[in-house]
Amino acid sequence: MISKKMQDAINAQINAEFWSAYLYLSMSNNFAAKGNPGFANWFEIQFKEEQDHAMIFGKHILARGGKVSLAPIKEVKTEWATPLEAFEETLKHEKVVTGLINNLYKIAVEENDYATQSMLKWFIDEQVEEEETAQELIDSLKMIANNGFGIYMLDKELSTRTYKTPSPLVAKA
Ligand code: FEO
Repeated sequence: MISKKMQDAINAQINAEFWSAYLYLSMSNNFAAKGNPGFANWFEIQFKEEQDHAMIFGKHILARGGKVSLAPIKEVKTEWATPLEAFEETLKHEKVVTGLINNLYKIAVEENDYATQSMLKWFIDEQVEEEETAQELIDSLKMIANNGFGIYMLDKELSTRTYKTPSPLVAKA
């Protein structure tokens, strides 16, 4: 059975994942309203992935005989002037999430919770990918600067991103 300390920490992480989902849905809405469907698509998929992350954590608590508590989700911003501003905020936010995941791993080690350590390894790898992707898009946007055609082309490219269910959820299906 999962310890109370580990359960509380994962429940806090579930709230952080749903807050991330909210943040990215708000970014998606912002770009949809501004006529950038590709950026809107990219952030909508990010929104879905964050909900998946919350689900993986919740299923882990339930599988270990614990209780999932869903706390209120804090409000998020609704305006980003440029795609660069949104991706810079994305990277900053993902770095915070990486710190939260690392802290969960530290607690799992202290609690001798090997099952949670194993589950968290997927998230540790996922965070490397999240930060790398955001950084690549920031680099592209800095190269494009204010070139409207460049923004249009990147928007087209990001419209091709498709949603995939993460492997831990597929394994549980
Ligand atoms: Fe759930 Fe983007 O990390």
